[in-house]
Amino acid sequence: MSEKVYIKTYGCQMNVYDSNRMTDILAPLGYSVTETPDDADLLIFNTCHIREKATEKLYSDLGRVKHLKGEKPITIAVAGCTAQAEGGEIFKRASYVDMVFGPQSYHELPEMLARVKRQKDSQDLTGNRGVLNVEFPEDPKFDHLPAIRSQNGFSEFVAIQEGCDKFCHFCVVPYTRGAEYSRPVQQVLNDIKRLEEQGVKEVTLLGQNVNGYHGLDAHGNESTLGRLIEEIAKFDGIQTIRYMTSHPRDVDDSLIAAHRDIEKLSPFLHLPVQSGSDIILKAMNRKHTREFYLGLIDKFRKARPDMAFSSDFIVGYPGEKDQDFQQTLDLVREVSYAQSYSFKYSPRPGTPAWALEYQVPEDVKDARLQELQTLILSCQKKFNERLLNQTMRVLFEKKGKLQGQILGKSPYMQSVHVMAPERLIGHYVDVKIMETYNNSLTGTVVTSDNGIVG
Ligand code: SAH
Ligand code: SF4
Ligand code: F3S
Repeated sequence: MSEKVYIKTYGCQMNVYDSNRMTDILAPLGYSVTETPDDADLLIFNTCHIREKATEKLYSDLGRVKHLKGEKPITIAVAGCTAQAEGGEIFKRASYVDMVFGPQSYHELPEMLARVKRQKDSQDLTGNRGVLNVEFPEDPKFDHLPAIRSQNGFSEFVAIQEGCDKFCHFCVVPYTRGAEYSRPVQQVLNDIKRLEEQGVKEVTLLGQNVNGYHGLDAHGNESTLGRLIEEIAKFDGIQTIRYMTSHPRDVDDSLIAAHRDIEKLSPFLHLPVQSGSDIILKAMNRKHTREFYLGLIDKFRKARPDMAFSSDFIVGYPGEKDQDFQQTLDLVREVSYAQSYSFKYSPRPGTPAWALEYQVPEDVKDARLQELQTLILSCQKKFNERLLNQTMRVLFEKKGKLQGQILGKSPYMQSVHVMAPERLIGHYVDVKIMETYNNSLTGTVVTSDNGIVG
């Protein structure tokens, strides 16, 4: 049997990881991946619920594939965080959807597909339309996933922690991903070993609160992210270790020590702060102050002087006054981030901030977002300019837009373009940076780990 699956992934890296695992689950059932919805027998929309826009996008994309249903017997599935949050509502808004399942139940895909088939074969005589699976099973899905396969054979995401118990007042993640869970150390190391055997050189450890990691080690003791990184660094084939996303409250000494001692650990940290105002941080339930956050940045910089940072920001949180926003700008200047993401606050149903008074008017949010993004970009530009004429190690990932160009990531997650042969893709290359732009760098090849010189 040979069938085709099309998966569209929205949202964060955890969703990319989940989509990859779904393809691993489907492969033994005879499914290969297609990039074209029209060719697919199974279409999976792996959704994000973080802001209203992300959710609306799902419904417009579903509308676009609806017509395929009349043309051949296809199965349409909605997975991910919107599936978890909206559940059976999705069948009401889009009756042609066959399956709705959340982030904690996709390992049951084979059974769910069989159920859809049974429903179709019985021509819906039961009136039981659509398979819904939004449970949070007792048994962690990680215990049921097939052996990890790298998509590209050189760089891979590895989920080590999932879920969130922080309940920031604006955020849906604790409801869509469920309670915090850390995979046991040995299970993670088994994945790393398999990936190393497949030639993987770079791993990005994932979790909604990745530095809250506290998986059990072989002796039944709780580990930390810092100690786990130390174990992973012992794999010779693994040359770069990254992790995301971290919460300031969960930074501990072992993580700072890991940045000081482990050369393979990338000197880059995504540490979202959301706001520079103590009043807003408190209202958001972030459970730390601006001073605490700046203190952490200081500790990391002392441990590893070449460390760079990125953050997420929300503007226009309910009650945010101009002086609060000024404090955010001021914090951005103080840390001088290598890059950052910023969003207008989007009220999400079911979160504590949803019902708050003092919502900030849309035009004020727009103006603040623009001002913040201009500042972030100028910091980014300054950061990039400092790298001019330096030589840095870049893992090349794919072809660039221009003919003869390849594209990779610097240690600081900047996009680096060089004109060089495609066979350098999947290899570490020492690149001398020749030009810097707002969002990328270009350079020339000095040497590569497979001995090819540009
Ligand atoms: N676990 C991570 C973030 C997960 S969500 C953390 O604790 O930082 C990714 C980003 O989306 C958040 O950092 C936040 O900046 C943004 N975000 C979350 N909910 C939002 C909302 N309701 N409106 C706008 N942005 C939001
Ligand atoms: Fe959301 Fe806060 Fe948890 Fe991050 S820490 S996932 S922002 S609730
Ligand atoms: Fe979106 Fe869920 Fe990730 S809401 S950001 S896909 S955890």
